[in-house]
Amino acid sequence: MSSAAAPQGASTVPEAPGEPRALRVALLGCGVVGTQVARLLATHGDALAARAGAPLDLVGIAVRDVAAPRDPAIDRALLTDDAGPLVDGADIVVEVMGGIEPARSLMLRAIAGGAAVVTANKALLAEDGPTLYRAADAAGVDICFEAAVAGAVPIVRPVRESLAGDHVRRVLGIVNGTTNYVLDRMATTGLELEEAVKEAQDLGYAEADPTADVEGYDAAAKAAILASLAFHTRVSITDVAREGITAVTADDVAWATQTGHVIKLLAIAEQTPDGVSARVHPALVPTTHPLAGVRGAFNAIFVEADAAGDLMFYGQGAGGAPTASAVLGDVVSAARHRVLGGKGPQESTYADLPILPPGAATTRYQVRVLVADRPGVLAQVARVLAENGVSIEAVRQAPGTGGDGSTVAANLIITTHAATEAALAATVDAVAGLGPVHEITSVLRVEGA
Ligand code: NDP
Ligand code: HSE
Repeated sequence: MSSAAAPQGASTVPEAPGEPRALRVALLGCGVVGTQVARLLATHGDALAARAGAPLDLVGIAVRDVAAPRDPAIDRALLTDDAGPLVDGADIVVEVMGGIEPARSLMLRAIAGGAAVVTANKALLAEDGPTLYRAADAAGVDICFEAAVAGAVPIVRPVRESLAGDHVRRVLGIVNGTTNYVLDRMATTGLELEEAVKEAQDLGYAEADPTADVEGYDAAAKAAILASLAFHTRVSITDVAREGITAVTADDVAWATQTGHVIKLLAIAEQTPDGVSARVHPALVPTTHPLAGVRGAFNAIFVEADAAGDLMFYGQGAGGAPTASAVLGDVVSAARHRVLGGKGPQESTYADLPILPPGAATTRYQVRVLVADRPGVLAQVARVLAENGVSIEAVRQAPGTGGDGSTVAANLIITTHAATEAALAATVDAVAGLGPVHEITSVLRVEGA
């Protein structure tokens, strides 16, 4: 069933003398984000028209179920479950339905018909963005995706345009609000992970199925997009080494506090002399680093560039209105190009750097080891690190309880200099095999020092 009138073709829109014709905007999706896009298009219509240089007419909204309850701000007459004809007559197509298909086919159809496309779909861009970018280039239309990384936080345009004259070395981001909320609650209340996830679900931050967030898939998609932009090289989600937060315990979080750190799920994209690496994993961040102060469900991206130095972009990375803000910024930008001519930047892949395999990046580590507290044990552990080529930066000792609880034991908290994942794994295996070692309690990367 379809209740929206099919949009008219470009030539049939009446144009008052001296006034630019209205641009037809087709919205694909009317969920958390789409509802707010439609609402802001209606409530800010005059201001948006003035900024865009032409009125923006919302000509239809594609949904799965036109009969489903909707926010009162939605004009139900615009709803349709037949997205194809809707995109055919549009000047700008806003895709906020999510998923791979039919989102990809609909955007390709829109582009082929000459429409500019605005999307928040990080999953699709990280999996198959180049197909869309190539099509947009061939058709000479814009494809904009500011909302795909960190919601309201402007980061795509700054990396792609504002920093185009600089050399970005590294991007470190807290790009998933759900996991940042969970880790923050664990740090401030001592909750275990499952309890904090349940709280995030009750508050509407986490989905009923939180897998994409807690396992790091959402952050990995954003890492791929950021790495591609920062290093002018195609990086897909399959190139991103990914580890979520499910192994982080309340004990890890408490120890992090004791050692002057917080645990954050970081998306890291960096360029080394050997190529580009992109990874997502939990990491200890010193409390003195700007990312450590990013609390609750907020996002922040820390960019290290040669000439600019360090930059940080901070704000709401999710939610209907914040994400709609980024979407509408793109809509205005695409509309200006329609009115004045020209087009936004195309995909830049000239550098085409090698993508480093997972595990190639070197990182500092903090290894917590529960050992028997007697002479010579520290020396034994230190020897194993040396034998594996892992250099110790600092060692701290704190009382512990070993084995059956009666043994005199100590927690050794060893911070290493940068080491490869392989060297660290071999070291940890060897340390675990030492007689006086009760347990390797945790191994966490340290970033942002
Ligand atoms: P929702 O699930 O809330 O909404 C999806 C909308 O798309 C619904 O209106 C749904 O219709 C419609 N839809 C889904 N599949 C189809 C289809 N096959 N045909 C027609 N309509 C369809 O998603 P969100 O608004 O949360 O997210 C949208 C996009 O924005 C995703 O790509 C997401 O990753 C991205 N994003 C979301 C953020 C957020 O905070 N939510 C933040 C940043 C990006 P119906 O209503 O009938 O079910
Ligand atoms: N689920 C994401 C988050 C929001 O928690 O940040 C969409 O990117």
